[in-house]
Amino acid sequence: MTETVPGSTVGLVSDVEIEDDATYYSRRHAEIYDFIHAARGRDWAGESDELAERVRAVKPDADSLLDVACGTGAHLARLADHFSVTAGFDLSEGMCDMARRNAPRATITSGDMRTFRAERTYDAVVCMCFSLGYMKDREELEAAVAVMADCLAPGGVVIAEPWWFPENFLDGFVSGGIAEKPGLVVSRVSHTVREGNATRMSVNYTVAESRGIRSFAEQELYTLFELDEYLAAFAAAGLRAEYEPGGPSGRGLFTAVRA
Ligand SMILES: C[S@@+](CC[C@H](N)C(=O)[O-])C[C@H]1O[C@@H](n2cnc3c(N)ncnc32)[C@H](O)[C@@H]1O
Repeated sequence: MTETVPGSTVGLVSDVEIEDDATYYSRRHAEIYDFIHAARGRDWAGESDELAERVRAVKPDADSLLDVACGTGAHLARLADHFSVTAGFDLSEGMCDMARRNAPRATITSGDMRTFRAERTYDAVVCMCFSLGYMKDREELEAAVAVMADCLAPGGVVIAEPWWFPENFLDGFVSGGIAEKPGLVVSRVSHTVREGNATRMSVNYTVAESRGIRSFAEQELYTLFELDEYLAAFAAAGLRAEYEPGGPSGRGLFTAVRA
């Protein structure tokens, strides 16, 4: 069965059982996220060390950091070695629970990057792995970037990773990976197509463990914002952003400070 996730306006549909209103990264997805993506080459510790370097290049005395759409807290677990105060929030309760487990030194809350209000400001605000791509139009993108700007302490820096730009997205892209350890094998295959100014990624997961094999599928929608649309969203939030190609995934990185 395919159903729209209740309460979600991020345009994500899924045929997994929805376990609460606030999330579409289901608990069963959250439980295998780190395992399968590490096998596919994600190195959150290495990314975090580089993030800390980038932050200190702008603000050498930076000592607090907020991770927007922190996922399983894999960055925060390492970033807590670099910053005295670390915090993160995510829309998915399942991801937040994993983050509380993985990053016990960080303060984790559930929240939506389009509306989140922090109780304090941070020297650095990061948003990694194309999470901004979930914004369904310019208005949502501007709202999310404004939230990041509001969370920023004077002299602070925002570092954010975009989804692909329209000109470098490969329509029909397929990808796959398998992660194995004694007693657990997880496979993930994905197919991504263009739908207007968005991309739809269909992902099938199979998990084999001693009690048996289960499979589930998820679909995600990401907007193909142009570089100028990201830059305009930063400018609208009073931030001056620079885009650097490359970054941890090839999609590049934005570094933004108050204009
Ligand atoms: C691809 S994962 C990235 C997680 C983590 N930042 C990383 O680098 O591994 C995307 C995350 O964005 C979160 N997310 C999606 N829409 C969101 C929103 N509107 N507000 C907060 N988090 C959101 C999802 O729940 C998911 O944990």
